Amino acid sequence: MNIKAWDIKESELAQQVRKYVKMYSRKGAFAYVHSFGCQLNVSDGEKIKGILSALGFKFTEDYAKADLIFLNTCAVRESAEDTVYGTLGNMKKYKMENPGVILALCGCMASEPKTIEKIREHYYFVDILFGTSALSQLPRLMLEHYEGKKLAYDIKEYKEEFGADYQIRESSFKASVPIMFGCNNFCTYCIVPYVRGRERSRSADVIIREVEELVANGYKEIMLLGQNVNSYGNDLPDGMSFSQLLRRLNEIEGDFWIRFMSSHPKDAGTDLLDTILECDKVGKHLHLPVQCGSNSVLKRMNRHYTAESYLEIVNYLRERSAGFALSSDIMVGFPNETEKEFEDTLKLVEQVKFDNIFTFIYSKRNGTAAAKMNDATTDTEKRVRMDRLLKLQREVAAENYKRFIGKTVHVLVEGESKQGAGWLFGKSSAYTIVEFRGDRSLIGTFADVKITDARNWAVSGELV
Ligand code: SAH
Ligand code: SF4
Ligand code: F3S
Repeated sequence: MNIKAWDIKESELAQQVRKYVKMYSRKGAFAYVHSFGCQLNVSDGEKIKGILSALGFKFTEDYAKADLIFLNTCAVRESAEDTVYGTLGNMKKYKMENPGVILALCGCMASEPKTIEKIREHYYFVDILFGTSALSQLPRLMLEHYEGKKLAYDIKEYKEEFGADYQIRESSFKASVPIMFGCNNFCTYCIVPYVRGRERSRSADVIIREVEELVANGYKEIMLLGQNVNSYGNDLPDGMSFSQLLRRLNEIEGDFWIRFMSSHPKDAGTDLLDTILECDKVGKHLHLPVQCGSNSVLKRMNRHYTAESYLEIVNYLRERSAGFALSSDIMVGFPNETEKEFEDTLKLVEQVKFDNIFTFIYSKRNGTAAAKMNDATTDTEKRVRMDRLLKLQREVAAENYKRFIGKTVHVLVEGESKQGAGWLFGKSSAYTIVEFRGDRSLIGTFADVKITDARNWAVSGELV
């Protein structure tokens, strides 16, 4: 794809918008940007902040002080959409009392045509709406709004893409770098391919340059992002594969870790697994969403692997690196999931021994294939199954984390822990949460911690 770091600041369009921003904002011109959903959305939110900063805004954490409000939305489950509509409802009063305030909706929900209808009908106070592939159109939409358009919107897919040039990052030591956008997999339950479009890989040269710059600026953790990172490059004529990209990034000099998410089990070949095992900067952890342990459900989900082939991946890693950390996403209550099918998921969770799982009750998404499937499993049954899964995982993880006791692990210190005064937390190469006592000045640096204690979601120890 043609990468164009669009030069907003100098453009005539930006100058026009900046004039309006000055004219119509209260003193200071403050923007509030809130991202819901996954890390890709957070990354887009950081880029939106960059664009807004070039248009003359500063930022506030309090929407009731903002001249411009941005809700960067997620559509993956109904609850995510409800949260956004609830937030809009809460903001209505502020917006009505301050009609000069601009309210903008973007992200995955905004990319669904049905959202525009709903906004027009029930949330008429929204001023700007744009989709995940129309970030580059933000200055133009702002101008249209200032020039009087009622709802300035654009949900087309644009090739122009923002690199990191304008990104305002939350952290000074952890950075995410999207390597591809979109998804081609069409898992039958999932809305993402509809709201993020087809897979588009960014050029390897641009990614490498971005990571080199981040490392030179002191970043210690680089998180490569994509809906399915291991199909990276498939759409580039002479592109690197994901494994080749990882090996290339691993060669960059400096003291930093490389992580990535998410990977799809159907594309996790030995080439990728060997790369993870062999590259010293790549964290010894794989987030590999399995969704469930039943082959019949996996088929209905259109996932293209089986519980057995998933276990082969796990065994391959564990044979070469005992205690290799795996985490997963697991969905309960896919349409017509039977008791037996659910028990297959429990069996898989027991066999794999995940360090961590993210669990979801299936949520019907209109427009997906699963939305048309009939579903005889009741909501109560789904909730009971979820409780059984969580109980099992707590036991598995408590046992699992004991493997670290007595070991000294290298940790990237991330912040103060809720444990109490003087406690910090960080993450190890295996992505385990590690708590220990230490000075705040360690935040953002690497430290060695000897593990003395394990719980079912974290370990703790003493600074070496
Ligand atoms: N691309 C990633 C996942 C992105 S969505 C992957 O394939 O691994 C993150 C997780 O949300 C998914 O792994 C799935 O477990 C969950 N999810 C997606 N659609 C869902 C739905 N309709 N209902 C409930 N959970 C869903
Ligand atoms: Fe959704 Fe499947 Fe694509 Fe992940 S791989 S984003 S679950 S369609
Ligand atoms: Fe949500 Fe969109 Fe991410 S639907 S999970 S924010 S890709």
